[in-house]
Amino acid sequence: MTTSENARKPILAANWKMHKTVQESVDFVTALLPLVEGAQGVDIVIAPPFTALERVGTALAGSAVQLAAQNVNPEEKGAFTGEVAPSMLEDVGCRLAIVGHSERRALFGESSEFVARKTAALLERSIQAIVCVGETLAEREADRAFSVIEEQLKGSLALVPDDRGGELVIAYEPVWAIGTGKTATPDMAQEMHAFIRAQLGKRFPSDADSIRIQYGGSVKPDNVRDLMSRADIDGALVGGASLDPQSFAQIALFEA
Ligand code: PGA
Repeated sequence: MTTSENARKPILAANWKMHKTVQESVDFVTALLPLVEGAQGVDIVIAPPFTALERVGTALAGSAVQLAAQNVNPEEKGAFTGEVAPSMLEDVGCRLAIVGHSERRALFGESSEFVARKTAALLERSIQAIVCVGETLAEREADRAFSVIEEQLKGSLALVPDDRGGELVIAYEPVWAIGTGKTATPDMAQEMHAFIRAQLGKRFPSDADSIRIQYGGSVKPDNVRDLMSRADIDGALVGGASLDPQSFAQIALFEA
């Protein structure tokens, strides 16, 4: 392991998707905090639904656990019914926001161009973007996984200033592994993460080594350690297994 790998602090993030009421969210935090108290050397992040952001932020106050949003609109304000602006995320204490999740790309028609605008808008507010990329099963079977990821990265990061790559987090989430119980093997994930880092190296030569790349797709307490042992896997973006505080705490404390 090189010094630069050591320098990348693991980042374990809970993506709750469209789950949990405000009360359920607060109950989760109340249960989680004692479990992860004193966790050193990892960043722990929770992305609740928009409705619970403020209350979860309040419940996390004074802890090291960070608040994230699951989405954002790149505009600052205006006639965009149903959307939420970066300044509104900042207002409720979000330190990070997920953009380009495959569910947003597939179910809501979001393009890499739109993801690029979101990423740039977050940078303006100093909210860290977790930029998701991932190929479908059909793309992998057609041997297109690497070219698809290359395109998604290029498009989604197009508006990031050359000197700000170091502020990004990338999440590699193969679509066929999300919510399916089928995880990419650590070898498969590492191969793609190394490829992603090489692409980042072309775009952000001096920052690529410090950019954290999360793996996502059926991460569970019993597979997280294996995945995290690989050189270019610097964290996890966790859906299903993040809904239970015990399970998410085990993932966040994978090193313990
Ligand atoms: P999963 O979801 O852990 O339920 O597979 C991961 C994600 O979509 O972020």
